[in-house]
This record gives sequence, structure tokens and C-alpha cells, in this order.
Amino acid sequence: MGLVGTPVTVVMMRGVPPQLAGAGPAGNSVTRQVGGTLGMALAGLILSGAYRARMPTPNCRAPDSGSPPPRRNRPARPPKPPGPPPARCVCPSWRPRPSARSTGRPGADTTIGTSEQREHTMTGTTARSVLVTGGNRGIGLAIARRFVTAGDRVTVTYRGEEPPAGENVLAVRCDVTDGEQVDQAFKEAEAAHGEVSVLVANAGFTQDRLLLRMTEDDFTSVVDTNLTGAFRVARRAVRGMLRAGHGRIVLISSTAALHGAPGQTNYAAAKAGLVGFARALTQELGARDITCNVVAPGLTETDMSRALTPEQRRELLRTTPAGRLGRPEEVADAVAFLAGAGYVRGAVIPVDGGAGLGH
Ligand SMILES: NC(=O)c1ccc[n+]([C@@H]2O[C@H](COP(=O)([O-])OP(=O)(O)OC[C@H]3O[C@@H](n4cnc5c(N)ncnc54)[C@H](OP(=O)(O)O)[C@@H]3O)[C@@H](O)[C@H]2O)c1
Repeated sequence: MGLVGTPVTVVMMRGVPPQLAGAGPAGNSVTRQVGGTLGMALAGLILSGAYRARMPTPNCRAPDSGSPPPRRNRPARPPKPPGPPPARCVCPSWRPRPSARSTGRPGADTTIGTSEQREHTMTGTTARSVLVTGGNRGIGLAIARRFVTAGDRVTVTYRGEEPPAGENVLAVRCDVTDGEQVDQAFKEAEAAHGEVSVLVANAGFTQDRLLLRMTEDDFTSVVDTNLTGAFRVARRAVRGMLRAGHGRIVLISSTAALHGAPGQTNYAAAKAGLVGFARALTQELGARDITCNVVAPGLTETDMSRALTPEQRRELLRTTPAGRLGRPEEVADAVAFLAGAGYVRGAVIPVDGGAGLGH
């Protein structure tokens, strides 16, 4: 391999044995730490090699050579055979995301975080099949939109009203307290978009009461949706993820899981259960490329938080350093990060304006 254009940085460090000196990554830039006289000799060798490699060759026009390099007569390349047609979503409303090059939007090719995400977004060839429960409104809808923007094929479940018209998603009716409806929703998502590789268990609701007034039904119904509902969808998703050898599961919990809140013994217990669930599942899945993580939003601007009394709202804001409610899109950012991260496992990411100071 030629060394043309190879910058060589030699850092002299006395007392550092050469075998401990770090070899630079294979590529154009080499940085080595070399100690003592041996280091000087090595540096000289590297530099002279680099210098020789900079000398003009018959096909390389030196800056001051004055005449163009001779042209090679290359035989014409044979035309490429036509490849298979790109995979298409059978969801009638799905359209491939236009690339940044075609839209010219600045920064359109960038998404947060990992190289996995950037590669996914830039190539546009690996659209994932994503399922978001409770994706017809609020945080779930913001999450669904985030994946659609990244070029994924998104299924949202709803229980009452469908998502707003014009959303580029497949909407499937599903109550997460019913195992058969969960199974049916997955079948529809799989038929339209292929095996679900990203699951966001977002569906949830509150039924706040002080403990002495809380009925058993108040308690179990909240647990059944927020915790057992997540169990139902995760168990159904993991089946396909194990077959595919890949998967990302994100569970939407709450800061109530970590701090509790008066009137929310049911909700806090259910949301805290998600943390234990994610960590146990992480250990079960072991080295497989299937992750399960938790996002814990603080007070976020949706129908759910609008149901709070002004006093409850004021009190929650008083203990939130950011001094404002979160936006659903900010929760979606954390979900998108986890959906692209392979080495973050069993984690709880708070998105709460600092209310829990990281917990
Ligand atoms: N907003 C906040 O301040 C906040 C804070 C922390 C955590 N969270 C959590 O974030 C998630 C989303 O909340 P949100 O604020 O977006 O609430 P939201 O606007 O009230 O939306 C709740 C979603 O959950 C769905 N859902 C409720 N029960 C369901 C069931 N049994 N089966 C299927 N879907 C069901 C709803 O579907 P329908 O529309 O069909 O009823 C809706 O799509 C919830 O898990 C919530 O606990 C919210």
C-alpha cells in the first residue's frame, strides 16, 4: 500500500518502551509514540519511506511537473448486471425516505449517536421493521415519527382512536392487556414490514388514588397495561428477534419508577417493574445481539400530563432543574439512540430535565 499523503506524527517519549507505544489505526494517519534512540531510527525510516512515496510516479502529476501525466488506455468496463429490486413495504402508505442528497436538506443524513444509525440512515437500504405500542398519540406518536423520518417501516398500535391522517405508518388496533390482540398486531406488522426488529413498549395509563382509596382493580389494571402489557409484547417480539439474531427493545417507564409519587403506588410499581424486567431479560439474552433498555421520562407535554392539577404540575416543575416540561420528541431522541446502540444493555435513561439527577 502506498504512503502517499500519509502524515506521520512522531511523539518522543522518554522511558516509554516501544512495545507499549500505540500503533495508529490502519489508514492514512499514523501516530506512534517512540522512545529513545531506537525511536529516532524508526522515525527516520518511516519519514524517508513517506518521502519516497511522495515522489511523482508516471501516473501521478507532481505539483511542478508542468505537463499532464500520460493517459492509460483502459478497456471499457462491462455493464453491471441488474440487481434484485429494492425491498418494498407492502404497507400502502409507505414510501422510501428521500435521501439527503435528493432533498438537499442540510444535515439530513445525520442522526444522533451511533455509526449503526448513521449507516442505516445514509444507505437507506436497511429499513427496520419497528412496532410502537400506543403510537397513535403523545410520546408514542413522536417516537413513531422519529423512526419514519429515519426511513424505517413503522407499525403503531392504538386502542381507541387511530393516529392522525397522513402519518406514514401502519396502524393496527391492539389492546395490550389482550394476548390474542398482541399476537394479531404482530402478525399484521410482520406481513406488512417483515419481522419486528425494534419494539417500543410505550402503551400506558395512570389511575391515581391514594393507597387507602385505591381499589384492587385500580392497581391491577395499571399493572396489567404498563407492566404485563410490556411483557406480552416483548415476549412476542423476542421470538422473531431470536430467529433473526438481532433486536432492540425499548420500554417506556417513568421517573415515578425511580422516585415514586403520591397517589401512584400502582403506576410507580408497574413502571419500576419494567426496570427489573429489562435487566433480567438482558441477562437471559446474554451475548445475542438483542438489547432491552428503559427510557424513563419525567413530566412530558401530552394528554397524560395535561390531566394533572395545576398544583401537581407546579410541584413537579419546582423539582425539575430544566424548569419546563419535556417534549415528546425529546423522549423519542433517547429511544432512537437505544434502537441504534448494540452495547447499551439493561440501562435506564432518564429524560426528565434533571428531576432525578441521573437516577
Ligand atoms: N406524559 C408524561 O408526563 C409521561 C411521563 C412519564 C412516563 N410516561 C409514559 O409514556 C408513555 C406514553 O404516555 P403519553 O404521555 O404519550 O400518554 P397518552 O398521551 O395518554 O398516550 C397513552 C398511549 O397508551 C395507549 N394505551 C393505554 N392503555 C392501553 C392499552 N391497554 N392497550 C393499548 N394501548 C394503550 C393509548 O392508546 P389510546 O389512545 O387508544 O387510549 C395511547 O396511545 C406511557 O407509558 C406513560 O406511562 C408519560
